Amino acid sequence: MAPDVNSTAPSLPRRVPRHVAVIMDGNGRWAERRRRPRAIGHRAGARAVNVCIDFCLERGVEALTLFAFSSENWGRPEDEVGALMKLFMTALDREVDELERRGVRVRFIGERERFGDTIRARMDEAERRTAGNTQLHLTIAASYGGRWDIAQAARALAEDVAAGRLRPEEIDEAMLGARVCLADVPAPDLFIRTGGDTRISNFLLWQLAYTELWFTELLWPELDAVTLQRAFDAYALRERRFGLTGAQIAAQGESAA
Ligand code: FPP
Repeated sequence: MAPDVNSTAPSLPRRVPRHVAVIMDGNGRWAERRRRPRAIGHRAGARAVNVCIDFCLERGVEALTLFAFSSENWGRPEDEVGALMKLFMTALDREVDELERRGVRVRFIGERERFGDTIRARMDEAERRTAGNTQLHLTIAASYGGRWDIAQAARALAEDVAAGRLRPEEIDEAMLGARVCLADVPAPDLFIRTGGDTRISNFLLWQLAYTELWFTELLWPELDAVTLQRAFDAYALRERRFGLTGAQIAAQGESAA
């Protein structure tokens, strides 16, 4: 992973988030306001994904995690789920060359078994082809839920206990944290949600414990660099205390300088 981007080029904002996590909400409403099918909104949403990736690459963000399809989204009308699956396939076919060329490593988190064979094969291929890239770690959360993630980590711990590799009294936060998704990247610094709702909606429940949250009324297909910069500027002004006092954080900053 690249060195801490917060201390590099002086032209960058003072504190650039290392890891940005995004709920891309509002595709359906964007389409409905135009009296178009919701699938058209998702297509427009796929274009906004590129805006977000470009912005993160330009700013030196190390990791970007996008919530593309939740565990609960399987319950949407069949035609909408079908349209989203088609869109994922097209996007995988169309974008992987470019992502590979730009140094983006792509990974998927979530219950991959629930997707059809063809999509799963495309996901595997995208991961394989970009595995050596380091410019940006792009994670697509698909068929993902934060509760599922914690449950699968708990199951992995239980398997270790059952196999005699671990004693229950040895289990601590770090052990669970090592088994949830994204354990190999820093926890998200900045969470962005478009679409006006101010909730986490079963996204990275474990990983967002100390993440700075930022919400906008803007619908996902309307996303632009100006909006992302607003989010980054707001983030740069936040005091992150991680449960400590402001004075303690200030003292840490002085001793590190
Ligand atoms: C939420 O908007 C969005 C989704 C469920 C799908 C997100 C998918 C994309 C942005 C397109 C492609 C993504 C990739 C990674 C290629 P919503 O439908 O809930 O909108 P609403 O709240 O207005 O109904």
